[in-house]
Amino acid sequence: MPATILLEREGRVALITVNRPDKLNALNEQVRDDTLAALAEIEHDDGVGVVVITGAGEKSFIAGADIGEFAGRTPFDQRHAMRSPRVFDIMAAFPKPVIAMVNGFCLGGGCELALSCDLIIASEKARFGQPEINLGLIPGGGGTQRLPRRVGIGHAMRLILSGDMIGAAEAKEIGLADLVVPHEELRSKTMELAQKMAGKSPLTLKVAKEAVRASQRLSIEDGIAYERDLFCLCFSTADKEEGVKAFLEKRPAAWTGR
Ligand code: COA
Repeated sequence: MPATILLEREGRVALITVNRPDKLNALNEQVRDDTLAALAEIEHDDGVGVVVITGAGEKSFIAGADIGEFAGRTPFDQRHAMRSPRVFDIMAAFPKPVIAMVNGFCLGGGCELALSCDLIIASEKARFGQPEINLGLIPGGGGTQRLPRRVGIGHAMRLILSGDMIGAAEAKEIGLADLVVPHEELRSKTMELAQKMAGKSPLTLKVAKEAVRASQRLSIEDGIAYERDLFCLCFSTADKEEGVKAFLEKRPAAWTGR
């Protein structure tokens, strides 16, 4: 059986490709397990600073959960299938930046996986949606919670209650996609940004990500106090000394991640 996940490294960027193009990269149990295994490997690899996730083939990022697995399932079977650790939560809490490179259909669990990433870069051909309602279901990978936080309650209601798909331009307009690029340039533009991020101090990237993520759960007062503490924590690092010194000496910084 071909691998459901391909893991490549380009410089300090790891590229995870969901590899079931004949099923539009639908997320079955194997894909979820293999993605978790790839993330575990990347997390402990100091050579990787940033992760990009995409779908194989020209047509689809991920067209949702594998609907074939739902037929005949009992609530207990489903609860077992949704046991922790869940790929959506692991992705959302991943210590390194994760970019969703959306090359086509981004539906259901695929959209929820993209919502768990830090940044969504879409091809002009991308189509987004939460079509679970058409199956007598609701989003189950965090969509009812992460989508309204990202696009506001009205757009989230519209997408989740209608099951409608929207194109990349509209996704950008409502804040679902962060950047939209021509299809042929998706990989180069995404990798360019990922490499730029991966060239920063890995330690500082982690702290910056943690601070921004905290804005989604803390009040503004608590968030600003947390930011101040994390900012001051940066003063304990060799990379802060190096970054400041390099600026003053007009040379590029040589980060050590300490
Ligand atoms: N789960 C399982 N299989 C899926 C799938 C999914 N979520 N999405 C697509 N596939 C399969 C199709 O069954 C088909 O398999 P087959 O060739 O063995 O019949 C193959 O992928 C190609 O899909 P197809 O429907 O022929 O492509 P299309 O271009 O005509 O339509 C979509 C594309 C995305 C509109 C359509 O596949 C679709 O609606 N998929 C389901 C989306 C969804 O509801 N996701 C949420 C799940 S909770």
